[in-house]
Amino acid sequence: MRIDILTVLPELLESPFSHSIIKRAQAKGVAEIHVHNIRDYATDKHKTVDDYSFGGDAGMVVKIEPVFTLIEKLKAERIYDEIIFMTPDGEKYNQQVANHLSLKNNLMILCGHYKGVDHRIREHLTTREISVGDYVLTGGELAAAIVVDSVVRIIPGAISNETSALSDSFQDNLLSAPVYTRPAEFNGWKVPDILLSGNFKEIAKWQEQQALERTARLRPDLLHGE
Ligand code: ADE
Repeated sequence: MRIDILTVLPELLESPFSHSIIKRAQAKGVAEIHVHNIRDYATDKHKTVDDYSFGGDAGMVVKIEPVFTLIEKLKAERIYDEIIFMTPDGEKYNQQVANHLSLKNNLMILCGHYKGVDHRIREHLTTREISVGDYVLTGGELAAAIVVDSVVRIIPGAISNETSALSDSFQDNLLSAPVYTRPAEFNGWKVPDILLSGNFKEIAKWQEQQALERTARLRPDLLHGE
């Protein structure tokens, strides 16, 4: 999969994709992530990417011209499955959306900034709007990092142990069972005996019960398909 991220603050995206599974996925050729600076496509001498909003509402708005030029350039190079705009008023992001996006070949993600982007970008250039939650971030970069991280890690081949992505919390609308490692006892706090028993059938049963119990207690909305 190829992902192109369009931003006025590329520096914010330098670290999130340079570690762990996401770094390895890129090294293995499972994912290609390209971050583009919208400012590079501004044509005036000050490289202006934002301007005052019409109507006098306070706050700066990302201009359409440099975004249009960049999107058109990328679209001329390949076909994009989705051109996603990150915004708090978009569709709420969850594991199902991540699963869906992980099957695509080419994604473009546009990060909003300042007061917003010229609405014509949303009307004419993007295909989908995603929110990572009901709160407002300074810009779409951290939200885009969440989407890219959660999508890339489930692309087949990104994680060597494929079952590990499938047993994530949320994959069956269930939270995961708790996990433990050595020592079996610390400070008088013990790991559940069943996990030390070596009886894998019983352990699997325990994990399933734990997943159901934790979901019912912590996230009952998931059990009701909300
Ligand atoms: N940009 C600012 N806040 C956001 C949010 N909650 N989700 C996606 N993009 C955003």
